[in-house]
Amino acid sequence: MKVLVIHGPNLNLLGKRETAVYGTKSLKEINKAIAAVASELGIKAKAVQLNSEGEILDYIQKGDYDVLVINPAAYTHTSVAIRDAIAAVDKPAIEVHLSNIHKREEFRRKSFVAEVAAGQISGFGTESYLLALRAAKSILSEK
Ligand code: DQA
Repeated sequence: MKVLVIHGPNLNLLGKRETAVYGTKSLKEINKAIAAVASELGIKAKAVQLNSEGEILDYIQKGDYDVLVINPAAYTHTSVAIRDAIAAVDKPAIEVHLSNIHKREEFRRKSFVAEVAAGQISGFGTESYLLALRAAKSILSEK
């Protein structure tokens, strides 16, 4: 079972970027936690960080995964293209956010991705990704 984890724009700056909102863990540390839980669950997880929308579309379209775990970051609130790519590949996607997007600015409450995702996990910091891996496993074992 293969899970592709996509970290969207600006998430390469984690650990330095708005630490009061996103925490002090770097992306490298988050990816380490993802790898540890993936191995505990017996899942193959590959994580990529992409700043450009086009590259995110390429990874989604390639479809080289059973479940997509995606933190679309700012594109969550703007990208019809990412929403359409997820709908087009027809594989389960889990939307992840470090912060609780429903508790912040009004513009963050709208997610184009949520409409095509199996579910959304928002507000638990690094744990949001780890919960998403557990959800990925349970989605696939239900199939
Ligand atoms: C985010 C929330 C988005 O609103 C924001 O643009 C991000 C990160 C999160 O993980 O909390 O870049 O997706």
